[in-house]
Amino acid sequence: MLVTGHTGFKGAWLSLWLHALGAELTGVGAAPPSRPSMYELARVGEGVSERRLDIRDADALSAALTAADPEIVLHLAAQPLVRRSLRDPATTYAVNVMGTVNVLEAVRRAGSSVRAVVVVTSDKCYANDPPGRRLTEQDPLGGRDPYSSSKAGAELVAAAYRESFFSGDGAPRLATARAGNVIGGGDWGEDRLLADSVRAVETHSPLRIRNPNAVRPWQHVLNPLSGYLRLARELHGGGDVASAWNFGPADGDARTVGWIVGRLGELWDGALDWELDDRANPPEAAHLELDSSRAERELGWRAALNLEEALGLVVAWHRARIDGADMRAVSLEQIAVFSQAAAAT
Ligand SMILES: NC(=O)c1ccc[n+]([C@@H]2O[C@H](COP(=O)([O-])OP(=O)(O)OC[C@H]3O[C@@H](n4cnc5c(N)ncnc54)[C@H](O)[C@@H]3O)[C@@H](O)[C@H]2O)c1
Repeated sequence: MLVTGHTGFKGAWLSLWLHALGAELTGVGAAPPSRPSMYELARVGEGVSERRLDIRDADALSAALTAADPEIVLHLAAQPLVRRSLRDPATTYAVNVMGTVNVLEAVRRAGSSVRAVVVVTSDKCYANDPPGRRLTEQDPLGGRDPYSSSKAGAELVAAAYRESFFSGDGAPRLATARAGNVIGGGDWGEDRLLADSVRAVETHSPLRIRNPNAVRPWQHVLNPLSGYLRLARELHGGGDVASAWNFGPADGDARTVGWIVGRLGELWDGALDWELDDRANPPEAAHLELDSSRAERELGWRAALNLEEALGLVVAWHRARIDGADMRAVSLEQIAVFSQAAAAT
C-alpha cells in the first residue's frame, strides 16, 4: 500500500494502524506539518518505507510510486487549512488540485500494480448553499474559500480520471472520500479547535474561538479512516463502489463549537479557559452536516466512536503525553479501543 501525507495528523494515524494490521506500507509526503507531531511522537516511520518528496514534483512522485509498486493508494497529502489558503491560494491549489493530478498520473503511468485508489477530499467540497441541510454525495460541489474550492477541484479531477482512464477492464478503481472536522490525539494543526485547546491548556492561556455557534460534523479521526480502509478493500475486491462517499459522524454528533469547548473544559477539569476571537475571520458556513447513509447502507460502515468517546480519547491522549507516556503504545491502545467499538456496532 502507499499512503501520501503519512507524516500528517490523519496520515500518521492511518499509517500506524495499517502497520499494526501487517500492511507492507510506503509513506510519501513532505515533513510533518507541526512540531510536535503525531508522526514523531508515535514513531510512525518505524516499519514504514518512506519517501520524502513534494507531490507538486510529478516526476519524483511517479518514480516513488513505480518503485513502491502498491496495490492500493490512499491519497491524503494536502494543504488542509482554510486560513492558510486565504494567505496562499496559489500554493493551496497547486498542492491540492495539481498534486491530485500528479498522484493520478503516477497511478496511470505505473499501469500494472495499482488496483484501488482513494482520494481524500473534504466535507467542505460542497457548495452547501443554502446551509442547514444534511449534504448527500449528490449535492453540488463548490467552496467559497480557496481550500474548499481546491477540494471541490480535486473531486472534479478524480471524477474525470475515473471516467477517462480508470473505468475499463483491469484499470485501477478510484473513489473519493469526504469527511470533515476530525479530532484525535496528536493534532497540532493551525486554527483547529482541538489543537488550539491543547495549546491553550499546555500554555495556560485562554482558547480563542471564532464562532461558538457554528455547527460542525465532529468525529474521531479513526471513524473516517475506517471508512477509507473499507472503501479501499471494496474497490480492491472489485465492488461497485468507484464513486464519491461521505463519512460523517453519527446522528446527534454535529455540535456547536461552544458545546465542544464546554465539554472539553469539563474533561480538562477546569484547566481550559476560552474567549471570543474577534480578529477578521474567513467566511465559513455556519452549519455543515453530512449524510453518510449511503456508506452505512452500501459499505456497512458506521461511525463507531461517538463524540463523547472521541473527546475522552483526545484528552486522555494529551494527558498521557503530558505525563511522558510512550505515545506509540498509547496510540495503538486507542486503535484497539476503536476496533472493539467497531466490532460491537
Ligand atoms: N483534519 C481534518 O479535520 C480534515 C477534514 C477534512 C479533510 N481533511 C483532509 O485530510 C487530509 C489529511 O489532513 P490532515 O489533517 O492530516 O493534514 P496535515 O496537515 O496534518 O497533513 C498533511 C500531510 O500532507 C503532506 N503535504 C502537505 N503538502 C505537501 C506537498 N506539497 N507534498 C507532499 N506532501 C505534502 C504533509 O507533509 C502531511 O503529511 C487532507 O487531504 C485534508 O484536506 C482533513
